[in-house]
Amino acid sequence: MATETITLLSKREIEKMRQAGRLAAQLLDYLAPMVTPGVSTLEINDEAERWTQEKGAKSAPLGYNGFPKSICTSINEVICHGIPNAEEILRDGDIINIDVTPILDGYHGDTSRTFFVGTPSPVAKKLVEVTEECLTRGIAEVKPGARVGDIGAAIQEYAEANGFSVVRDFVGHGINRIFHTAPQIPHYGKRGKGKRLREGMVFTIEPMINEGTWEATVLNDGWTAITKDRKLSAQFEHTIAVTESGVEILTLASE
Ligand code: MF3
Ligand code: CO
Ligand code: CO
Repeated sequence: MATETITLLSKREIEKMRQAGRLAAQLLDYLAPMVTPGVSTLEINDEAERWTQEKGAKSAPLGYNGFPKSICTSINEVICHGIPNAEEILRDGDIINIDVTPILDGYHGDTSRTFFVGTPSPVAKKLVEVTEECLTRGIAEVKPGARVGDIGAAIQEYAEANGFSVVRDFVGHGINRIFHTAPQIPHYGKRGKGKRLREGMVFTIEPMINEGTWEATVLNDGWTAITKDRKLSAQFEHTIAVTESGVEILTLASE
């Protein structure tokens, strides 16, 4: 990964990424009303799979390195890669990240949001709001000539100023016809460090921000990553392109 070269996408390829990204955002919009107490994460998964197929797309997570379902559903202390399950029922006060990646005409659109189930606790509300703002601030750093470290620094500064921590074990990634490729985009770091951003780079920014420690443990299922202290974790993700003038978010439901 470290020595892998970064692909620069043409305008035509970025248009394909825009179409996949739009579909991904529309899928989250479609799933959002299902996020209510009493619903299982498997029901959300199955509706996502059905909708994706109806649009002529494929779910990238399904079968990816053996991942068994079509989306990731990560509740409360789950940082990422939660596996949808019929026995896992949403309860009032939960937070749940839904992470979707449809493949449309060969190109991936990768986006996630954290939703409230019913009424959140004050700390859950603050964590989710800070995490979304971390993504916004990370994106705001992106333009040709900026550095990868500028993105992580902006995110880390805002998260830590609010008393939260930044997950280290999972990072943003280059994305195109390949789900995960160079460059890696840490959500922590130093301004002026790391690779220089160039027009045509396409990657995700997907900060995972924790209430307590940043440390993670992966469960025996080989996927589910949880916080070591079992406190809350939130995440938001967009797929973005570096443009001549700055940045374009590709995972928006409409232009
Ligand atoms: N969508 C996740 C990401 O943001 C990756 C999920 S891989 C899976 O990179 F196999 F867990 F689905
Ligand atoms: Co991603
Ligand atoms: Co994702």
